[in-house]
Amino acid sequence: MTARFLGYGRQTIGEADIAAVVDALKSDFLTQGPAVERFERALAERVGARHAVAVCNGTAALHLACLAAGLGPGDRAGVADLTFVATANAPTYCGAEVTILDVNSDSRCLSPETVGDFKRHHGDARAVLPVHYGGLAQSSEALRRAAEGLVVIEDACHALGGTHENGEAVGGCAFSDMAAFSFHPVKPITTGEGGAVTTNDDELARRLRLLRNHGIERDPGRFAGSLPDEDGPWRYEQQALGFNYRMTDLQAALGVAQLNRLDSFLARRREIAAYYDGCFAGLDKVALPQSRPDQRARSGLHLYTIDVDFDRLGRRRSDVMAGLRDAGIGTQVHYIPVHRQPFHAARLSPAGGAFPVAEAHYARTLSIPFFPSMTDEEVEYVAKEIATQLT
Ligand SMILES: Cc1ncc(COP(=O)(O)O)c(C=O)c1O
Repeated sequence: MTARFLGYGRQTIGEADIAAVVDALKSDFLTQGPAVERFERALAERVGARHAVAVCNGTAALHLACLAAGLGPGDRAGVADLTFVATANAPTYCGAEVTILDVNSDSRCLSPETVGDFKRHHGDARAVLPVHYGGLAQSSEALRRAAEGLVVIEDACHALGGTHENGEAVGGCAFSDMAAFSFHPVKPITTGEGGAVTTNDDELARRLRLLRNHGIERDPGRFAGSLPDEDGPWRYEQQALGFNYRMTDLQAALGVAQLNRLDSFLARRREIAAYYDGCFAGLDKVALPQSRPDQRARSGLHLYTIDVDFDRLGRRRSDVMAGLRDAGIGTQVHYIPVHRQPFHAARLSPAGGAFPVAEAHYARTLSIPFFPSMTDEEVEYVAKEIATQLT
């Protein structure tokens, strides 16, 4: 047993993070101050995008990306089945229809063929939201080609620090219109709650900024002129129905400090993944998805998932999870496929669609403790317990 309970993921907070937040607390601005711009500049630079727009969480990032793209009633978005529900909710918030798409068994992400079929079969297809499941961005260039004519919004919530097959950083939007990130505590970096959209498109960035702040424009050069009596320094115009999706300066200050440590977080995740891969390679009831060296090398490595053949093991997943919990090891299932969720199941087209890969994944998957601050002792303990329980 280790001294602390090990969840599948957790934040890594150090003295520099704490000092950055304390500085922000002592500054003139707790929100709408300079730290947000600093974080946006640092994030844009890190991923190689022209713009980063920081928001209050990843769900807001996805929602605003869909709105900025103009998604609305009469439109349809294709969404990967293997994701958190927020990805499918975002186009739904905008009044668009959602078609849930099965994933590819090798990558657990959308394949270009699936996206091409989606486009061919739906005259109202406007957008597609691939999800970089576990941190792995897959078939990005080919997917962009297959999606020609559609808006591509990457759900990159797992994948900060990862790269596409050709070495482009995730978030640089080389193969998409926008990429959405989450900075929830289990994610590659954290701001407590937080998110961002990156894009290379100036107009999309302008709309994202407008919509995160109620739809309010303060730039006199952009006033529509509909408030002729408000001709003074107090003037602002609400030009669209936006939201308060702003990130605070406390969060942004933490974000800058965390971004500075992203490479060290990734390096530690790589070490742990390599150790686990070695320990589990010989287990005949366990398979390791996304574990090819080329996949591990460029993944953001958000999750470490194993596929367990529970039938051959002769134990139910919930019993295995309970056994591991008793040993101080937290595990999780990522995810219940979106098509199974009652809200989205009720909205599936009459043909319904088939989701054999997501179903097979769901039947076997288990996410095990995997975060940068795990000590060598903790990693070895988890590997040994898993190997014992799954043999
Ligand atoms: C794939 C994916 N998309 C979207 C989200 C939503 O992010 P947030 O929790 O920051 O709203 C999450 C986070 O749980 C996620 O894992």
